[in-house]
Amino acid sequence: MTQDTLTIVDNRTNQTYSLPIENGAVRATDFRPIKTDPRDFGLMTYDPAFMNTASCRSSITFIDGDRGILEYRGYPIEVLAEHCTFLEVAYLVLFGELPNETELKSWMQEITHHTMLHENTKKFMEGFRHDAHPMAMLVSTVAALATVYPEARNIHDPSNRLLQIRRLIGKMPSIAAMSYRHSLGFPYVYPDNDLSYAANFMNMLWKMVEPKYAANPVLARALDILFILHADHEQNCSANAMRSVGSSHADPYLATAAAAAALSGPLHGGANEEVLKMLDEIGSRENVPAYVKKVREGHGRLMGFGHRVYKNYDPRAKIIKWTAEQVFEVTGRNPKLDIAMELERIALEDDYFVQHKLYPNVDFYSGIIYQAMGFKPEMFTVLFAIPRTVGWLAQWQEMLLDGEQKIARPRQIYTGHRARQFLPIEKRVPLAVTHP
Ligand code: ACO
Repeated sequence: MTQDTLTIVDNRTNQTYSLPIENGAVRATDFRPIKTDPRDFGLMTYDPAFMNTASCRSSITFIDGDRGILEYRGYPIEVLAEHCTFLEVAYLVLFGELPNETELKSWMQEITHHTMLHENTKKFMEGFRHDAHPMAMLVSTVAALATVYPEARNIHDPSNRLLQIRRLIGKMPSIAAMSYRHSLGFPYVYPDNDLSYAANFMNMLWKMVEPKYAANPVLARALDILFILHADHEQNCSANAMRSVGSSHADPYLATAAAAAALSGPLHGGANEEVLKMLDEIGSRENVPAYVKKVREGHGRLMGFGHRVYKNYDPRAKIIKWTAEQVFEVTGRNPKLDIAMELERIALEDDYFVQHKLYPNVDFYSGIIYQAMGFKPEMFTVLFAIPRTVGWLAQWQEMLLDGEQKIARPRQIYTGHRARQFLPIEKRVPLAVTHP
């Protein structure tokens, strides 16, 4: 027996089993031969919410939650945020290497080439109510792109896949901007191919009657940095949705719509919108201690705090805090920053938050910057979805090319009735009586 094994004694049968350990993990299927008798299904592992289950091998993003480390393809997030553009990082996340000058130039052209939307897309958008949530419009419109590009279903052709990847990255800001302008009743603005990815997005959002909209370069760079920070984050809720839906070989527009739907929830990408609501509720620095006390006593959560993986300061939150200072030099200071900083200070000294290892996450400061830049809180998750599309697509492609992957299909522990006697309708007892 080598050292890289796990020895298990089944006390029900006194049988001993030896399971190989590889990369710090045992295979859940290796438990299946552990049975009480030949008719027994075999031992399963039970892991609601995937608290301790690796669902794939991945070489895209590395996180060390205890040390607060985040790397894309081996490069620390801080280095990428300082030296790269978002499209450069998108190339890295998708293809594994940073592009050289020629590669980057043609990649930027390819993405720019795909920013236009089919005119029919405008019609989908026009069908939404004026007060529809932009995230719901984004999810629905991305799904509707499957009707515009039916060839996307051919997911086994690498060049076809690449075409859809370019289209999705190119069109995401265009859809996001349309959803924003729809909610304001403004006419849609077509992309401007002379502009950078972030500046073009700002142009589509905010151009009014001027012949050429000039995005403030500091704000455009800040947005680009925020996009870099949000590009991927390994097996989170939305990446898992992308892989799970993609594992049925659904087309990439539908799988991306599913991932975006997962992102929209307040426990995931919707948290930054909730942070702003929370800061509004707190109202002033003086009210912070009472609010923290309320949360400590079990009334609600501090939105923008805590993370399934980070049990230390989220490295993205540090970069965002720095970016906030640059943004505020242009826009003026968002008064919510003072409340947020006081909240962070008090929470990080509080026993409850220290013991639970609850630190600010990426969503804590991003909303404050977005608001200072002129975005409404409803747009915050949309701003997250644009760059995260890169990560979803990288995860999707990696899943499709992984020979070990099959359609995602978890097991369950059944807790319901069995073999019940059928009752004719006149004999059935109302649900309110059986389950009051
Ligand atoms: N405020 C107060 N208490 C919290 C918070 C919080 N923000 N987050 C976790 N806790 C407490 C829980 O009550 C629980 O306490 P208990 O063990 O005494 O019952 C403990 O910490 C563990 O919390 P879980 O919910 O089990 O941790 P999990 O890993 O499942 O949740 C999550 C992670 C969802 C991010 C959680 O921390 C949370 O709800 N945070 C607020 C929402 C948020 O900011 N989400 C954005 C995450 S980043 C992203 O998705 C991009």
